[in-house]
Amino acid sequence: MLDQYGRNINYMRISITDRCNLRCRYCMPEGVTCPEGHDDILRYEEILRVCRAAVALGITRFKITGGEPLVRKGCADLIAQMKALPGLEQVTLTTNGLLLASKLDALCAAGLDALNISLDTLDPEKFRAITGWPDFSAGELRALLANCCTRGLRTKLNAVLLEENRDEAVELAALAEEFPVDMRFIELMPIGFGGSMTRVSPDEVLGQLKTHWPDLHPTEEKRGNGPAHYYASAALQGRIGFIDAVSHAFCADCNRVRLTSTGQLKPCLSFESTLDLRALLRSGCTEEELQTALEQAIYRKPRAHSFERREEMTEHRTMSQIGG
Ligand code: 5AD
Ligand code: SF4
Repeated sequence: MLDQYGRNINYMRISITDRCNLRCRYCMPEGVTCPEGHDDILRYEEILRVCRAAVALGITRFKITGGEPLVRKGCADLIAQMKALPGLEQVTLTTNGLLLASKLDALCAAGLDALNISLDTLDPEKFRAITGWPDFSAGELRALLANCCTRGLRTKLNAVLLEENRDEAVELAALAEEFPVDMRFIELMPIGFGGSMTRVSPDEVLGQLKTHWPDLHPTEEKRGNGPAHYYASAALQGRIGFIDAVSHAFCADCNRVRLTSTGQLKPCLSFESTLDLRALLRSGCTEEELQTALEQAIYRKPRAHSFERREEMTEHRTMSQIGG
């Protein structure tokens, strides 16, 4: 469907939990608790009702996010049920990868279309410093990537650019040389704890990569639903992408809305304004009422984020509460 600025909204990110088994510094640092109780979180039947209404409005692509979605039981079953909805085109998943090896069979059987794995570093010490996780193994990560690629699952890696990994960009990007996966660098957004951390410039990192792969050049290819822009090199099987949400705002082409784990529809990351779909669903609304409410909220999606004018930001929740 088109919003008030004529943007085609066809993509919804659905957070199925605010819980996570990592404690990334910029998202949910050590000591932060997950505030939502079991009954606060949308049940899978409720999520499916929202999906059905969204598909009727032309939103046909969905990304399951968290927190960490794989910590919630039944995630693969939800994906299978979503995939069975008439008119739905695509379901993808973002995960930190910790539980992925044990769930790949079920996810593939459910018909998962593509996968994003968050990976900020290959160094176990840095991994611990960024995420709190003491047992990272680059060898296991490589085995996991090989497994995903063998299954033909389209896989992207996402690294948030941080002071800890600004010198590791070439090593991370080399994963796209070793495997047919895309490596994307995400500019830190001033959401939640990210607001008080140092931002590393994507242009600086691109400079490092161009020194290592001199033929690295922009490509116009569309590789998913997101705002990443991509670079190719003859040496790479996959592509290198950048998501520069702050320095090169892409709001004019934004195609997405978000559903938080508690059922709040969030038209823009930067603003807290939401539609309480949980209250509506639990008030016994009809399918038509649900669809109309969704349509009106999406139509009013703000024109642009206000990351560069922080005083205008009204979003004060953390990324794990919003859904990454
Ligand atoms: N800025 C940019 N990316 C973030 N993520 C979490 N918090 C932030 C932030 N402040 C990323 C995670 C994951 C994705 C779901 O969102 O690293 O890759
Ligand atoms: Fe968990 Fe992802 Fe947040 Fe890290 S960024 S704490 S993996 S939800």
